[in-house]
Amino acid sequence: MTKSEDHVFVIFGASGDLTKRMIVPALYSLYSQKLLPDNFALLGVSRTEYSDVSFREKMKEALNEYKVIDDLSQTDEFIKKIFYLPLNPQNSAEFDLLGKKLNSLRTENNIAGNTIFYLSTPPNLYPIIPKNLAASGMNKQNDGWKRLIIEKPFGYDFDSAEKLKNGLMESWNEEQIYRIDHYLGKETVQNLLVTRFSNGIFEPLWNRNFIHHVEVTAAESIGVEERGGYYDSSGALRDMVQNHLLQMVGLTAMEPPSSLDPLSIRNEILKVFQSFRTIQYEDVKNNAIRGQYTASKIKGESITGYREEKDVNSNSTTETFAAIKFFIDNWRWGGIPFYIRTGKRLPTRVTEIVISFKPTPHFLFSKDGNQNSCNQLVLRIQPDEGILLKFGMKIPGTGFDVQTVNMDFHYSSLSVKRIPPAYERLLYDAMKGDSTLFARSEEVMDAWKFLMPVIDAWKNDKSIPLHGYPAGTWGPEKADDLIEGQNMTWRYPCKNLSDDGIYCEL
Ligand code: BG6
Repeated sequence: MTKSEDHVFVIFGASGDLTKRMIVPALYSLYSQKLLPDNFALLGVSRTEYSDVSFREKMKEALNEYKVIDDLSQTDEFIKKIFYLPLNPQNSAEFDLLGKKLNSLRTENNIAGNTIFYLSTPPNLYPIIPKNLAASGMNKQNDGWKRLIIEKPFGYDFDSAEKLKNGLMESWNEEQIYRIDHYLGKETVQNLLVTRFSNGIFEPLWNRNFIHHVEVTAAESIGVEERGGYYDSSGALRDMVQNHLLQMVGLTAMEPPSSLDPLSIRNEILKVFQSFRTIQYEDVKNNAIRGQYTASKIKGESITGYREEKDVNSNSTTETFAAIKFFIDNWRWGGIPFYIRTGKRLPTRVTEIVISFKPTPHFLFSKDGNQNSCNQLVLRIQPDEGILLKFGMKIPGTGFDVQTVNMDFHYSSLSVKRIPPAYERLLYDAMKGDSTLFARSEEVMDAWKFLMPVIDAWKNDKSIPLHGYPAGTWGPEKADDLIEGQNMTWRYPCKNLSDDGIYCEL
């Protein structure tokens, strides 16, 4: 890996949580691995009054608290590259100050015009800051590249996302915009491409002829924690499905790209998004299940119900669990159901993709003539990252009793090399101008388009239940009915890749 080009890295919303928890620790890690350019300045911008010195102190504390790399010996050198400008980003007149500050940083640090603007602010500022930057000419690329990194959520629904997109496109072009979906920065999500396309054995089976169904689960054991205000206006569908889960579906279902260049990969993912079969409004009740966690006791500890959480409306109908069944209408996947589910306060934190293969055509070894369980390939994104293959083996002894056994590979056994956190990879890529792992505008719009019938039906059709589920369980039992087929159910994963069952440890 090589250093990126000299640039100034501007963070709007610099006094916020994301800056200290994710962005600055990731930048330090890049610095300590000599991946930041020699001429580099980090400029924090937000309304809070800090001086360079006090902001550096705050960032130094953050590095200790949220470190992503063990070696902190270069902290003092690194923080000398940090500067701060108090500014109200809603006030366009103040952007002249930013322009002046940038010019002086460039001159003092011998940096040309290359600049990254990272929007780590509340989403209502996403349309405003890029507009104000452009009004002051800070989007112009005559003296070096200018890039915008935007956090999710990109819009609240299709219309708001389109408005945001159109507003941005008035003064920025697609190549300048990097929409963060931190799941794409996860090493194991990228490994999906490698597993599929660097092995000859999987791809021939990776289609409707051999696969029975595909599951994607992103379960969290935590509740909404301190983010009740944001979450209550968002919910599981917007918070996790619209972005992270659909991106994982895209990588699982895409055709092999012609090369590794960003455009080839993103084109293939986009084709998957364009092939999602629309869920008709009247079919939502049978294909999408929503739930909300209720108070319960886990290992003797009382857990607050969602409606009792801080900053959550006590009559809230926001879903904390969502499960959807849908189809991808193309030659590879025609007729094969995809099931996705996500939820807060589920039994364990686990993200994985499960490919369930079709059962044998004749059930030779089952006594009652019922099908044996399917072969499954489990691609574990987190934790206990790895891959698991489940297949039937003869139990030693008389007769032909069959037992499902596991063959597993754990990432941890691959090497002692550190797995970089998602933000580190994504920030480095944005600095290098590589947009492969960022969500492209059309994907975001197609994802919203796909989910709109569900969003609308859940909002307007009062006959669709919002199921309560006790915190620490696998969500509404109704979600089990989504899975088609005799004896078919979701895989109930545990913390350890090779275990499953409904009684996981938290
Ligand atoms: C974020 C969501 O995008 O992803 C959070 O806003 C969620 O609600 C988080 O907790 C999960 O990310 P990870 O990397 O912990 O799986």
